[in-house]
Amino acid sequence: MQGSTRIEGSVALVTGANRGIGLAITEALLERGSTKVYATARDPKTLEVLHERYGSRLVPLRLDVTDAEQVAEVARQATDVDLLFNNAGAFEPTDLTDEAIVEVARREMEVNYFGALRMLRSFADTLARRRGVIVYVGSAAGLTNVPLQPTYSASKAAQHSLTQASRALLAARGVTVHGVYPGPVDTDMTKDLPPQFEKTPPEDVAKEVLDGVEAGDEDIFPDPFGVDFGERFHSSPKSVERQMAAMVAVPA
Ligand SMILES: NC(=O)c1ccc[n+]([C@@H]2O[C@H](COP(=O)([O-])OP(=O)(O)OC[C@H]3O[C@@H](n4cnc5c(N)ncnc54)[C@H](OP(=O)(O)O)[C@@H]3O)[C@@H](O)[C@H]2O)c1
Repeated sequence: MQGSTRIEGSVALVTGANRGIGLAITEALLERGSTKVYATARDPKTLEVLHERYGSRLVPLRLDVTDAEQVAEVARQATDVDLLFNNAGAFEPTDLTDEAIVEVARREMEVNYFGALRMLRSFADTLARRRGVIVYVGSAAGLTNVPLQPTYSASKAAQHSLTQASRALLAARGVTVHGVYPGPVDTDMTKDLPPQFEKTPPEDVAKEVLDGVEAGDEDIFPDPFGVDFGERFHSSPKSVERQMAAMVAVPA
């Protein structure tokens, strides 16, 4: 358990704020009393509706987390950030029949791991100065590989490791780090998921994430699938691995 955080009065920055979970987190932050949210997106035009709704409390910024120059520029502008949400994420369907599987894996890693690492490096001093908070929107698939999403899971495992590294490396500088481990959430990312997977609305996930941050929970499981997955993972990681493998097992 870490120290608790107040959302009210905070300044936040969200990557991938234009849709899905990032959009829901951005709106939840503003509804809970953040004084300013830097809403970042690859195409700032996609933030226009949000900007109209929230006015000057919403600061739209262009940010592709794979672009080192853009990350550095945003860090130069946003020097008052208390809460950094590393939310931007990439997923592409692939499997071993895909000749491009290595390129797919690289693209996912470039956003999900290297993008988050760039943000950490660029915002570490600002967050240390403000005794701030980093939230990594990871995935249950980062704790145990989901073989239906083999390369995505690997990139989320790398991000989970980065979450742990951030916590250890920045604790002495007063920075609090939260890892979020959702199951299926109803966003564009899961539009092709088989129907047996129940999806949680992104607004419900955003509420649980902010509740977890305010409560000081290090690991946040923000949906029913994630809660169940987390409990089973903590009691027997091997049995969860076998259960995930059984989802793709082909009868002999
Ligand atoms: N949906 C799920 O079931 C689920 C489950 C567990 C974890 N997650 C994680 O939750 C996070 C949000 O996912 P989501 O479900 O909201 O997916 P989504 O609806 O597909 O949104 C992905 C967001 O990431 C942004 N993004 C992608 N590449 C980027 C880049 N290079 N630089 C900056 N932004 C980039 C997208 O921007 P554009 O609009 O420009 O593409 C978009 O805003 C991701 O980290 C994802 O891995 C999702």
